[in-house]
Amino acid sequence: MTSMTRRNFFATLGAAGALALAGCNGSGEPAQTTGDQTTDQTTDEASYTLVKEGVLTNVAELGFAPFEYIDEDGNTVGFDVDLSNALAEKLGLTCEWLPNQAFDTLVPTIQQGGKADISIAGMTISDERLEQVDFSDPYLNSNQGIVAAAGSDLNSESLNAEGMQVACQTGTTGDEWISENLPNATKVPLADVTAALMGISTGLYNAMVIDLPVAQNMIAESFSDLEVVEEIPTGEQYGIAVSKDNPGLLAAINDALAAIEEDGTMDEIKQKWFGTTEI
Ligand code: ARG
Repeated sequence: MTSMTRRNFFATLGAAGALALAGCNGSGEPAQTTGDQTTDQTTDEASYTLVKEGVLTNVAELGFAPFEYIDEDGNTVGFDVDLSNALAEKLGLTCEWLPNQAFDTLVPTIQQGGKADISIAGMTISDERLEQVDFSDPYLNSNQGIVAAAGSDLNSESLNAEGMQVACQTGTTGDEWISENLPNATKVPLADVTAALMGISTGLYNAMVIDLPVAQNMIAESFSDLEVVEEIPTGEQYGIAVSKDNPGLLAAINDALAAIEEDGTMDEIKQKWFGTTEI
């Protein structure tokens, strides 16, 4: 998205705030948390609602290493998980993750309210999604990559041909990129990234378009027979999705984000998951 859109958006946040506490979202009993009681951060809004009192409830698609995935012990781990824990700590909350959900259900889940407070899911801020949810300030830059069999010599030109099967995760920016840039290929949207990469290994698909850091991580960890054949400089930025009915929470998250960027926590988390702070 453009920075202009963000500015316009935040300019209107004040007016939206007046309506923020008009009703509870969802069926449960949302907790009312006074920002000033739980943190010494000053927020633009006096308070916010949470699905569960004292808890920052997260929802994500959990097959997106190193951002969010289930480890061998069955724990939900990753860069976004550490980030969410750090934000929750600043807000005086604990963190919980709902069970895995398909990526294309995350924005509707946040929009609907009542199930999760936020989605941290390596999710790119886009104008289209901003019509349905709010996003925090950006926390990480990303691009797309084309993954194919190592040594296959494929690229965005040769893949744009009839008979080429190009996989993606359903509803992602990679999905959109294929539609816009490989009109002659057959797009194969799948719920699961690992299934898509496995399909390239076994020759079912020719390639996949996916966020570059995830492609690099998955190839290094489990797919030595695949490689990134082309990097696509889409210039994406990840943000945290929050309901439009919860501007107080958005403000609190942005304050917490600024605080962990300031105090070095963000750099620690980047170092832990990427071995560098330059990402
Ligand atoms: N950044 C891409 C997008 O926002 C892909 C995100 C996929 N995330 C996930 N947890 N599966 O569309």
